[in-house]
Amino acid sequence: MRVLRLSLKYRKVKNVIVCICRGASERQIQNAIDAGASTLRELQRCGIGDQCGSCHVSLRTMLAASAPEPVCPAHAPELTAVSAMA
Ligand code: FES
Repeated sequence: MRVLRLSLKYRKVKNVIVCICRGASERQIQNAIDAGASTLRELQRCGIGDQCGSCHVSLRTMLAASAPEPVCPAHAPELTAVSAMA
C-alpha cells in the first residue's frame, strides 16, 4: 500500500524527464502545450524534442491528450439553441 501511495504521489508531480536531450520534464512540456503549442513543430520551436527524436512518440501522445474534443455540429450547444429558435 505504501508503494502504491508513493507511486501516485510521483504521478501527480509530473516532473519526469520526457525529452532527455533537452532535459524537458513532463510539466514543462505541458506548460508549453497549455501556452498554445499544439503541434510537434511548435514544441520544437520551444526547444523541446528538436534533437534525436526519441521523445516524439511521448510528445505526440501528450499533444493528443491535450487536444480539444471535436464537437459534433448536431450537438453543439449554440447550434442547438439557434435551431430551437427557428
Ligand atoms: S529525447 Fe527529445 S530530442 Fe532527444
